[in-house]
Amino acid sequence: MVTINKNYLKLPGSYLFSTIAKKVETYQTAHPEEKIVRLGIGDVTQPLAPAIIGALHKAVDEMSHAETFRGYAPDLGYEFLRSAIAKNDYRDRGCQIEADEIFVSDGAKSDSGNIQEIFGTDNKVAVCDPVYPVYVDTNVMAGRTGEYNKERENFDGVIYMPCLEANGFLPELPAETPDLIYLCFPNNPSGAAITKERLQEWVDYANKTGAVIIYDAAYEAYITEEGVPHSIYECQGARTCAIELRSFSKNAGFTGVRLGFAVVPKELVRDGVSLHDLWARRHGTKFNGAPYIVQKAGEAVYSAEGKAQLKEQVSYYMRNAHYIYHGLKDAGYSVSGGVNAPYIWLKTPQGMTSWEFFDHLLETAHVVGTPGSGFGAHGEGYFRLTAFGSFENTQEAIRRIQAL
Ligand SMILES: Cc1ncc(COP(=O)(O)O)c(C=O)c1O
Repeated sequence: MVTINKNYLKLPGSYLFSTIAKKVETYQTAHPEEKIVRLGIGDVTQPLAPAIIGALHKAVDEMSHAETFRGYAPDLGYEFLRSAIAKNDYRDRGCQIEADEIFVSDGAKSDSGNIQEIFGTDNKVAVCDPVYPVYVDTNVMAGRTGEYNKERENFDGVIYMPCLEANGFLPELPAETPDLIYLCFPNNPSGAAITKERLQEWVDYANKTGAVIIYDAAYEAYITEEGVPHSIYECQGARTCAIELRSFSKNAGFTGVRLGFAVVPKELVRDGVSLHDLWARRHGTKFNGAPYIVQKAGEAVYSAEGKAQLKEQVSYYMRNAHYIYHGLKDAGYSVSGGVNAPYIWLKTPQGMTSWEFFDHLLETAHVVGTPGSGFGAHGEGYFRLTAFGSFENTQEAIRRIQAL
């Protein structure tokens, strides 16, 4: 008799964004005349930059000639892309990362969900609360957690590190020692950033305890302040305790194109085994390489033209972030984020729950955001707005919220 992976049954209810989509659809059907402004989901809206489009066209043309046609890509990524990443994202920032420590993938969601496979199911996982849900759900699926606790609204057997206003939305070192620590900075959903000194404390802690940090730096392109690290490898000793995940989605608009990478340094050894070798084995076995045309587009991100155009694109979104942040502050809201990240995290007014505020905003301002409680129990009472809309829509949303 076929049995199923019963760990999947531990996962509660429907996915946050499908619940939001359903609520918005119901409202729109009942009020077809209202123009809803969506600042909920973290998806980009600007078209791909000309340098990226040029590279895509060129690569597509190459596919039409026998001499330049490409079939399966190398499992771990084309050398031209891995070298461009190692140079531009790491060595130029003073981080010692080699091309063969980079594993090209179809994005950071897959990598952040898959990376746990190389670790034993008896490892104890620590996550920030609120958190990007993929880290938790994939560990639930793998059986690395207990049951869902309805009262606490989180899973037994997971170390949750509350990120609250009082601690600047940054996690404190946990009382119980974890094996795997997921950190994401700049943070989704809170938009908080971590300084190099604070991140160094985590690196030192992981090296001391033997934990591994899985560092999601999907939003590093949005860092505007000095002293905020773009990579965990800017910290001393990170090569022996950290895996870094990166994405081309937010810095270059690849959410629909799909490209990302994981960095696993060769010095990273646990249980007597190289994690670099384990991940190479896993990635090579289960992934047949990101498409050539997409990797060529990724290479164009690092061209002089690409860098200039993408800097402008990121600035466009950060102008929205600035607009939301100050627009809400002027209206009396308590806001954070939005300085080194495209997310603004606001406290719901008048003690409303996150979902109450969601409904209130949808029904009175016709603006969609994301309830903080969807990211974890400690997100309750908070709400996330994204800077990824158009400037016009962003202005309209803030005008409506200010008029409430
Ligand atoms: C923290 C974080 N990591 C990873 C991802 C997914 O990135 P990708 O599009 O590369 O799969 C997201 C997307 O919103 C994210 O917020």
